Amino acid sequence: MAIIIDGKQIAQSVKEQLKDKVKDFLYKYNHQITLAVILVGENPASKVYVKNKITATEYVGMKSLSFHLPESSTQEEVENLVESLSNDNGVDGILVQLPLPKHLDENKILSKIPADKDVDGFLAQNVGNLLLGQPATVACTPFGVIKMLKSQNIELSGKNAVVIGRSNIVGKPMALLLLQENCTVTVCHSKTQNLKDVCKNADILIAAIGKPEFVKADMVKEGAVVIDVGINRTEKGLVGDVDFEQVKDVASYISPVPGGVGPMTIAMLLENTYLCALRRFNA
Ligand code: GUN
Repeated sequence: MAIIIDGKQIAQSVKEQLKDKVKDFLYKYNHQITLAVILVGENPASKVYVKNKITATEYVGMKSLSFHLPESSTQEEVENLVESLSNDNGVDGILVQLPLPKHLDENKILSKIPADKDVDGFLAQNVGNLLLGQPATVACTPFGVIKMLKSQNIELSGKNAVVIGRSNIVGKPMALLLLQENCTVTVCHSKTQNLKDVCKNADILIAAIGKPEFVKADMVKEGAVVIDVGINRTEKGLVGDVDFEQVKDVASYISPVPGGVGPMTIAMLLENTYLCALRRFNA
């Protein structure tokens, strides 16, 4: 039976440390670190995520500014809001919850966020800096996965890491971070041939494909570390991309769903907001 990596507990410890850092920042700079969150429309999952993000922001003593715009908002209305928050010196981070309603141009809206307030690490400047190994804001989910691996003192250098999924939000930055840790990295996707064999070769396996319980025991090497980034709503409830019941008996470490990567994503969003504030104040 694998060791279960308790993301909830690690996230809690990140948040407790942030509480002190946020308080020190207020004392030193007379500024309460502030995160602005924009939600457009009524996507039920997005509403839950945004609510959790706001609660966590306030929990660590940061100020949250929340903007819920109607589904019918125009491109110009959303862009104007992002622009006004960009110019607001009191705001340290701006988060536009994705996905946006179909009629809106996501890239154009995100590009209005200045790189130093891009707490999601989605902008080309941050992704490019990550690629180059320069200081960058790193997307919250892959940043959280690395934090989870390090919290268990799992050796990464020289290991075969396989990332299933190549999204801009998770798969691609995840691969770059693992490369930075000196892993030999393979990125798999829907066109990958012999996926099972590739996965079976992984010492570190990261599942981020969005298919419920896709990773089965016969795809996992004995003793591998398996991190499940999936959040799938099924009739049996919330499940990950990994068949936990099967894989837990093959892996050496495994992250559960819920209670694994999910809470880490929010904790790292707050960490990113803190880091953005530090950079903005040249602290
Ligand atoms: N939608 C799903 N995940 C994310 C995330 O990490 N950030 C934002 N802004 N939207 C998301």
